[in-house]
Amino acid sequence: MYIVLLGPPGAGKGTQASLISEKMGLVHVSSGDIFRENLKNLTPLGKQAQAFMDRGELVPDDLTIAMVKDRLNQPDCQKGALLDGFPRTPAQAEALAAMLKEWGLTVNLVPYISVPEAELIERLGGRWTSQKGRVYHVKYNPPKVPGRCDVDGSPLFQREDDKPETVKNRIKVYLQQTTPLIDYYKEQGLLVEIDGTKSIKEVGTDLLAVIKKLKK
Ligand code: AP5
Repeated sequence: MYIVLLGPPGAGKGTQASLISEKMGLVHVSSGDIFRENLKNLTPLGKQAQAFMDRGELVPDDLTIAMVKDRLNQPDCQKGALLDGFPRTPAQAEALAAMLKEWGLTVNLVPYISVPEAELIERLGGRWTSQKGRVYHVKYNPPKVPGRCDVDGSPLFQREDDKPETVKNRIKVYLQQTTPLIDYYKEQGLLVEIDGTKSIKEVGTDLLAVIKKLKK
């Protein structure tokens, strides 16, 4: 089963993807996490992506598509994956469809987590992340020990691209380049809108319900 989690920056894609992948045993593939890992390890891809990420812009399609293709070709993704942050442009969506078609597969479901802009800014401003990509929020999902990950105790950090100016640009870029995917997947009958303003637990329950319905 291939599920694409769609939604603006800060909608809760990463938070929900971690919860769902644990519950459903689906591999969580986050394009943002893969880029950040490359950045940390100073790989050629990380160096190419850095300037775009720092500005809150999208990394060019050719680099992004090649990177995700490579990830989806790995054995743990052969039975499906939960895609978080990819696709983000019509070209990426077409590339994903073509890639899956080669394997005789398709995207099965596109939950679209909707959250109004003012709330996104508050969420990203209060987000703290662990080295392994676990996500917390000072108010909505605080760690048990301030500044430390609940799971491995590692220090939490704030993402460079969560600075207010960069957040504004990320939202602008989302509205310009990613929102066309809402209609793209709606026309294919794959889109299910999820109210992302509910609590983390409630959003998770709603998402699991639509995924389980698909499995029946
Ligand atoms: P990426 O890492 O994908 O960032 P994003 O899409 O902007 O999404 P975020 O990770 O910021 O938010 P999220 O929806 O996962 O929310 P989260 O769960 O953390 O991309 C970063 C950059 O990489 C891009 O700008 C681009 O440069 C590049 N990139 C990545 N993919 C690319 C692609 N395909 N093409 C080109 N470039 C690409 O939650 C946010 C906060 O809210 C947390 O603190 C959380 O605790 C809290 N929260 C979550 N849910 C709730 C809730 N229901 N109620 C209250 N608080 C909540």
